[in-house]
Amino acid sequence: MLNTENPKTLVDVDNYLTPTYARDYFTVPNDDLTIEQESKDPRTVQQGIFNRIDLDARNSSDLGSCICDYMDPECDEIVKRAIGKVYIDHSEYPQTSALGEAVPAMIQQWYGGTPLTKAGENNHRIIGTVTIGSSEAIMLALIAHRQNWYDAWFEVYKNSNADSEQWIHDRPLLMYARDVHTCWNKYSLYYNVPALVFNLSDDNYLIDPAQADKYLRMSIYDVFSAAVNNDETAGRFYEVIQQELRLPQVLTNGTTQQIAYAKNRYLHQLVCCVGGVIGTTFTGQGDPIEELNNVLAQIRADTGSFIPIHVDAASGGFVVPFTNPDEQDFKWTFTLPHVSSINVSNHKFGMVYPGCGTVVFRNEDVVRPELIYKITYLGGNFTDYTVNFSRGSSMVLAAYYNLKRFGLNGFEKINTQCVANTQYLAGKIATVSDSTNGNLFTVISDTTHYPMVVWQLKSGVDVNWTLTQLSNLLQESGWKLPAYQLPYTSSEVPDGPYVMRVVTRQDVSAEKIDLLVEDIQSAVNTLEAQSAFIVSPEGKKFLRKEQKRVAYVGSGDYR
Ligand SMILES: Cc1ncc(COP(=O)(O)O)c(C=O)c1O
Repeated sequence: MLNTENPKTLVDVDNYLTPTYARDYFTVPNDDLTIEQESKDPRTVQQGIFNRIDLDARNSSDLGSCICDYMDPECDEIVKRAIGKVYIDHSEYPQTSALGEAVPAMIQQWYGGTPLTKAGENNHRIIGTVTIGSSEAIMLALIAHRQNWYDAWFEVYKNSNADSEQWIHDRPLLMYARDVHTCWNKYSLYYNVPALVFNLSDDNYLIDPAQADKYLRMSIYDVFSAAVNNDETAGRFYEVIQQELRLPQVLTNGTTQQIAYAKNRYLHQLVCCVGGVIGTTFTGQGDPIEELNNVLAQIRADTGSFIPIHVDAASGGFVVPFTNPDEQDFKWTFTLPHVSSINVSNHKFGMVYPGCGTVVFRNEDVVRPELIYKITYLGGNFTDYTVNFSRGSSMVLAAYYNLKRFGLNGFEKINTQCVANTQYLAGKIATVSDSTNGNLFTVISDTTHYPMVVWQLKSGVDVNWTLTQLSNLLQESGWKLPAYQLPYTSSEVPDGPYVMRVVTRQDVSAEKIDLLVEDIQSAVNTLEAQSAFIVSPEGKKFLRKEQKRVAYVGSGDYR
C-alpha cells in the first residue's frame, strides 16, 4: 500500500503516473557527453535509448554484414540467464567454463587438429580459446607465432658466438596480401610486428604463392638490389625492413657488418607467419592455402625454416566444410602441415549473436607455456589465453548451444542453403541491365564455396552513375548495400575498382533476393533516366541535365 503522507512515496507516485512522453526528457536537448547529477526514472531513459537505436539500420536490411541477429528463442533464454555471468572466473563458474572450453575443442577436432592430451591438460596447455570475435582470435594466433619465432631464434643464438649484427637487427615479420581484413593491420600496428604486404591487382585479388616463394627466398640484400632495379614490391618490402630492422636506407652505404648481415639473412628466417583468408571480406574468395603450404614445405625442405600459416576463416569456417566436403576442391585445415592456427567467427556463420569467435591451434604445442596465464587470485587456479580479461558468458554459451543444437547436419542444412541463395542472387545480379549497355554487372566472388555475392561494373560498360550512387538510392527502399573500393595498393586509401557486396546470411531468403533485385533494377532505371546524356556534333558527351549550362563556342569547344 502506498503511503501518500510520505513525501518520498508521493514523488514515486508522481513518477509512476506521469506518461512517459510527458517527461522533460523529451523536451530538453540531451547532452550525450555529460553525466548528469540527478537520476532519472528507468522507463524514460529506456524509451529515449530505444528512440535513438531505432534510427539505426535493421540488421535484416543491412546486407553487407556477416553478423547473425537471429537465434532460437530457447537460446535467448540461456543468454538472459547468463547475462551477468563473467567468463573468466573459472573456479566460480566451473560449469560455464567447461561448456566454454568445449567450443574450441569441438571446432579444433572438426578442423583435424590433435586434441589436448591429459599431460597437456595437467600442464595447462591449450588447443584453442573462445574470443570476442575474429580480431581477438587472429591476434592471439599471431602472438603465439611471434613467440615461437623468438623462442626458436633464441635457441639458435643463445649459445652461439653469433655475429652481434644478428642480435641488433633480427626481428619477426608477418607476410600477407592486401585481401586480409583490417584487423591484421591492426595487429601489426598495435603489437609492433611489421608486415610485408603484397599489393593486389585486377588479375589477382588473392595472395600469390609464387610471389611468396620468390620473396621468402630472397636475402635482405637481394630485396635491396631488386628495389634498386625498380621492383615495386621489393621497394616497399625494403622500406619496411630498413626501418624496422634498423638498416641504412641505401644498403651499399652500410658498414661491412651490416652488408654481411643483409647478404646472409633471408626473409624465410624472419617471417614468423604467413596469413591466408578463407572467405575474404572484400571479394568473397579463398586464398590458395594449399599452394601456399606447398611453397612453405619446399622452403622448409630446402632451408630448414618452418613458417606457419594462420588461416583466417572468419566467414568461411562454418561454410566451407560443407561446400568443399572432405576438402575435395582445396585443402585449408590442419590436414596441411603448415597450417598451425585457424580462426572462425561464431557470430557470423556459426549463427551466434555478436560477441563470439574462436581460435584453434594445430596441437597443444603451438601456444608456448609462457603465454598462458595462470590465474590464482580469483580463488582458484586456472589458465587464460585471451587479450581481454573479463567478458560475458552469454555468447560463449550461445556458441556452445548452436554446436549442440545444430550438429554438423544442422549447420550443413542452413549454410548450404545460404550458398544456394548466393548462387540464386548471383544469377539475378548478372541480368540487371540498362537500355544502352545490356547486362551491367560481373560477379567476382566464388559463389560455389562462399555465401557472398560481390559484383562490379563489367569492363566496357559506359554509365554516367556510380555504384555509390546506386547504393545511396537503394537506401530509399530500405536496403543497406555497401559500395566500396578494393584495396589494391593501400589498405587505408583503397584504390581498386568499386564493388558492391551482399552477404547471403540465413535470413537472406529467395523472396528477399527477388525484392532486392527488383529494387536494384528499378534504381538502375532511375539512375539511367537521371543521367541520360547528349552527344555533341563532334561526338562529345554531356549530361542532359547540364545541357542548359553548355554553350557551343565553335571549333568543337563547349563551355
Ligand atoms: C575475413 C575476416 N577476418 C576477420 C574479421 C574480423 O572479425 P571480427 O569482427 O569478429 O573481429 C572479419 C570481419 O568481418 C573478416 O571478414
